[in-house]
This record gives sequence, structure tokens and C-alpha cells, in this order.
Amino acid sequence: MQDILEDLASRCRAILENDPGPAGREQVAGLLSDALKDPQKRDSLVPANGCERDLLYQDPDLGFCILAHNYPGPKASSPHDHGPSWAIYAQARGETEMRDFEMVTPADGDRPGTVRATRTYRLIPGDAHVYNEGDLHAPTRTGPTSLLRVEGTDMSKVTRLRYEAV
Ligand SMILES: [Fe+2]
Repeated sequence: MQDILEDLASRCRAILENDPGPAGREQVAGLLSDALKDPQKRDSLVPANGCERDLLYQDPDLGFCILAHNYPGPKASSPHDHGPSWAIYAQARGETEMRDFEMVTPADGDRPGTVRATRTYRLIPGDAHVYNEGDLHAPTRTGPTSLLRVEGTDMSKVTRLRYEAV
């Protein structure tokens, strides 16, 4: 487990040191996709009996995080972005229906913003999708799923804005 994680983390780090922007993130998404297509790596990084949110690694210098998520049953989230950060969703098991949104009115303090759906697509095992800063999205999972995510920073420490679909 530790060797596979360390290898992935050091490869992510090398890419993001060289290019921290959207192009670098697409390269990281490719790494995640490759790892999840290898059952041994997948099961090592995202054990099927893992918890809902497990912070596997945080880079001490660049701040990016690698997380494993396991949802034993249906799980949906309302439209959101990742604040000042970006995120990569990489599907390990099961299927996520992802919906993208465009902003209608921005959130203002406690008042939620409003957003409009633009497209819906599936993430199946091995798919990895980059959400750059401000990209609004909402995952729906109708059965058990697990995923690997890389975030630009630890979002558990960032206040999130709320959005409602119109
Ligand atoms: Fe998200």
C-alpha cells in the first residue's frame, strides 16, 4: 500500500511542480486513471472496505491531497465548486452520474447562488475528470461506489459556498 501510494504521490508532485495549472491536472488525471485500471493498485489505494473520506496524503509543499472515498450505498451531493481549489474525481468502483452547471447568480455570504445544469455524464471505473477552480458539478450515486480524488488543497478546512439548481 505504502509503496503504491508513495509512488503515485511522487509522480503527482513531479507533474504539479512542473505545471500546477489545468494541463498538469489533466496529466495527474491520467495517472489516476491508469492506477485504477490496475486491480492491485486500485485495491491498495482504495480498499473496498474503506471509510467515506480517508486523507491518504497531503503534500507538505504544494498542499495537494490524495483522498480515498467509499460510499456503501446511494449518495448524492448538491451543486458545488471547490472554492479556491480544483479537484479530480477518479472512479474506482461503481458508477457516478455527474452533472455540470453554469452560474446564474453568484452566492453571496449565506445566500446561496443559483446554477443551471449544462450536461450530465457517467463516470465509470477508470474514468478521471478534472474540475478546475469554479467548475460547478453535482455527483449522484445510486449504488455503492468508491473513488480516488486529488484536490489542490484540503477542502475540509475551506468554507464552501452553497448553490441551488434552477
Ligand atoms: Fe466536487
